[in-house]
Amino acid sequence: MQWHTKSWRDKPIKQHPTYKDTKLLESVESQLKSYPPLVFAGEARALQERLAQACRGEAFLLQGGDCAESFSQFNAINIRDLFKVIIQMGAILTFGASCPIVKVGRIAGQFAKPRSSDYEIQNEVSLPSYRGDMINGMEFDSKAREHDPNRLIQAYNQSAATLNLLRAFAQGGFADLNQVHKWNLSFVKNNAFGQKYEELACAITQALDFMKACGINSKDLPTLRETEFYTSHEALVLNYEEQLCREDSLSGEWYDCSAHMLWIGERTRGLDEAHIEFLRGVKNPVGVKIGPNATKEDIMGICDKLNPHNQSGRLNLIVRMGAESIKKNFPALLESINKEGREILWSCDPMHGNTIKANNGYKTRVFDSVLSEVKSFFEIHKACGSYAGGVHLEMTGADVTECVGGSQAITEDGLACNYNTQCDPRLNATQAIEMAFLIADMIKNR
Ligand code: PEP
Ligand code: CO
Repeated sequence: MQWHTKSWRDKPIKQHPTYKDTKLLESVESQLKSYPPLVFAGEARALQERLAQACRGEAFLLQGGDCAESFSQFNAINIRDLFKVIIQMGAILTFGASCPIVKVGRIAGQFAKPRSSDYEIQNEVSLPSYRGDMINGMEFDSKAREHDPNRLIQAYNQSAATLNLLRAFAQGGFADLNQVHKWNLSFVKNNAFGQKYEELACAITQALDFMKACGINSKDLPTLRETEFYTSHEALVLNYEEQLCREDSLSGEWYDCSAHMLWIGERTRGLDEAHIEFLRGVKNPVGVKIGPNATKEDIMGICDKLNPHNQSGRLNLIVRMGAESIKKNFPALLESINKEGREILWSCDPMHGNTIKANNGYKTRVFDSVLSEVKSFFEIHKACGSYAGGVHLEMTGADVTECVGGSQAITEDGLACNYNTQCDPRLNATQAIEMAFLIADMIKNR
């Protein structure tokens, strides 16, 4: 069947908003279609090149950001601090593992969530679940929980403003390696890993001083003065993604210009369903989440649909099995897939298979379970002779208390201190830096 930007509409679809006011939806859609693209096709192609390097073990993908971005917490500080932590982690991994790091934010479009139940019940009142600010409101009242097409416009506008700031940070001098000390957030500095980062920053500064003395200056070298930073989100709301599709004037191919990379979730990756249909026609790098029950047939089907020409860097499989299940289920699966000679960038999402409910009701994740899943992911790849190519993390630059453990030893009781997520619990800045140091060692041993 021929692909076109609307061909997903003929397929069964899961986890999708249901809009009552179809007239309003249509008017929002035509508005979005008339707006400028947020990214360019050439940038998506550049990312694919980088991901192809990661496929070959010559680079490593670091993808991270909020579980869900929020309209109400939209401000420059939050964007800046997440950007800081990601480039800090990039420096730790590049320096520690002598490996180029491909930095991709879950940002500037990450506003829609698949949910495990359609309804939420509080005090015997049942309302539609919150599905992300792009779809409905978080407040537990019936008006807020209605699916509102106008939110698609707000998501577009917030994404445009966010991307604008990210581009300024990436290219305007903030990411200059000479600023490496300034990226450390004040609350991270006191921590053991914040200290460790200070030492690493000193070593980088020393290396730069040496290079300067030899006549190599960051002013003349974009690779030292700027960083490449890409955006990504889950392509869940196809009414939105469809309108951001643009035909590239250079190649004549279709790109979804809402982000450089798009992925689809564990719950929406059915081979004959709408989300796979949509992604198969856009040329951006694409990701698919792989849960504990995925079979070889599922994965081969995904490869056939999304990467029929077996291009390197096109397809990222994001394994999210959980710390225990990955040990049981991934080795045999990986071994059987490796035999097929498919170009796959394998990355590890150690968050979504490790979500638990604390005794006091908070949804949380244990730092050691997250770490354990990443470790197993590296070990299993090594045993099978393939590359652990990246990590996919839910994290923030803020000093939140959402995941337990780590060097700050956040306890279940401590979760109440600053639990602030729109959806799933994120690693805070200190936990993310700590994770980066631990992953640097794993990459070195790949
Ligand atoms: C997510 O990445 O936020 C998510 C919901 O993941 P998954 O589809 O793997 O559950
Ligand atoms: Co999540």
